[in-house]
Amino acid sequence: MHTEKIIEENKQGQTLVAEKVTGNDKKLFIESYGCQMNMSDSEIVASILVKEGFNTTQKLEEADLVLVNTCSIRDNAEQTIRKRLQYYNSVKRKKNPSMKVGVLGCMAERLKSKFLEEEKIVDLVVGPDAYRDLPNLVEEVEAGRDAINVILSKEETYGDVSPVRLQSNGVSAFVSITRGCDNMCTFCVVPFTRGRERSRDPKSIIEEIRDLKQKNFKEVTLLGQNVDSYLWYGGGLKKDFVKASEIAQSTAVDFAQLLDLCAEEFPKIRLRFSTSNPQDMHLDVLHVMAKHNNICKYIHLPVQSGSTRILERMNRQHTREEYMELVDNVRRILPDCSISQDMITGFCGETEEDHQDTLSLLEYVKYDFGFMFAYSERPGTLAAKKFEDDIPLVVKKRRLAEVIALQLKHSHYWTKKHVGKVEEVLIEGTSKKNENEWKGRNTQNTIVVFPKEHYKMGDFVNVKIDSCTSATLIGTAVGYSENN
Ligand code: SAH
Ligand code: F3S
Repeated sequence: MHTEKIIEENKQGQTLVAEKVTGNDKKLFIESYGCQMNMSDSEIVASILVKEGFNTTQKLEEADLVLVNTCSIRDNAEQTIRKRLQYYNSVKRKKNPSMKVGVLGCMAERLKSKFLEEEKIVDLVVGPDAYRDLPNLVEEVEAGRDAINVILSKEETYGDVSPVRLQSNGVSAFVSITRGCDNMCTFCVVPFTRGRERSRDPKSIIEEIRDLKQKNFKEVTLLGQNVDSYLWYGGGLKKDFVKASEIAQSTAVDFAQLLDLCAEEFPKIRLRFSTSNPQDMHLDVLHVMAKHNNICKYIHLPVQSGSTRILERMNRQHTREEYMELVDNVRRILPDCSISQDMITGFCGETEEDHQDTLSLLEYVKYDFGFMFAYSERPGTLAAKKFEDDIPLVVKKRRLAEVIALQLKHSHYWTKKHVGKVEEVLIEGTSKKNENEWKGRNTQNTIVVFPKEHYKMGDFVNVKIDSCTSATLIGTAVGYSENN
């Protein structure tokens, strides 16, 4: 078995570099559900298994090992995966009897060995901190035994694992900087499935970005459940920081410093980050964003509710007014910055008045985008233990529809404001609707489509915005941007 560097050109004329292990033809089919962190984790998993002689495949029927990286955030996310497992089962019966199936990620962590009992198709269950154990676990499975590892770690960040970029457009990539979450929002299952918060060594983050740059990537999104809480002082849990040595404390790197470091080191790379929890976002991050042109002016700032009473029940550590003040600061320090939200309707005990508070907060902030959900009780969470899930589904859904309708109006308000301007767009792929058009995003993360002409994937292009829908800007290229 040996590693071979493959260099090829894709249809857009862009050079792609990949490492492939030859001499073994075990095939791995891996798919991810849920958040961007899962997409990024699947790339770590692929890297670990490629070293074991697996080649990735896009064809389920020919896979020796099928891995599904799962999401537990809402009940319907779990139902989607259960259905997918049934589909694997039918493929196994009809076309590929020797196929083995593994479940990774949050559902693996939440359900543990119950998975092996409940879903006969599943041979392997691996939690988010146990991916290094995959080679041993896969060996067990190949020997005909079920295998499971769902141990959560206080240290694991996979900092030294160089991810295999899966289904990448070769232009934008995710780089994870923290794992886990310590915030314990009462509705949220993540602290239970992904464990305690840990930060990754800044050196390994910089190295990963350097590697991406060499491979011609143009945009990096720094990922974490709560990136603003990033803190490196030599490793371990954030909560142990107070106990760390004085030397460790004096050389600690926080999120604003990390962002500054990355922006300084890679002036030609576009940087994004996600997600910002309002309680952990400080003004120094906004100042670093203002200082660097290559940091995109976009903040995903989930709020969940506009009512201080509900925020308290959710254990969000800020009031409505404190959140508004943070938004005011964003507008003051970064006048062109876009802001998006996550919102939950029908949380336990939410009254009509609380709901009106949510609508009025939406009016106040006028978010550019939003991700909105009806509350879904998750077993084991603090809310499931402490509060009754007492809002009828029809009410949750009616409130959700009202929130979505208002958000749509605000999205359109913002897209209209872009019309007539010339904006820098990074070309990320072909438009879904028209193969003669490129699609990319401006700094505010709004999708822009425009005729391809002579431009290529990965080019930074100035685009004149001619018209818009509520979610998309439509324009014409006027030339390369100076970043190109
Ligand atoms: N900080 C994380 C949040 C992950 S969960 C991040 O990186 O985005 C993403 C969103 O799902 C949350 O912001 C919340 O709006 C929603 N969500 C989480 N738990 C939920 C639940 N039990 N019911 C409905 N929506 C939920
Ligand atoms: Fe979940 Fe709150 Fe953390 S939403 S991921 S517990 S910040």
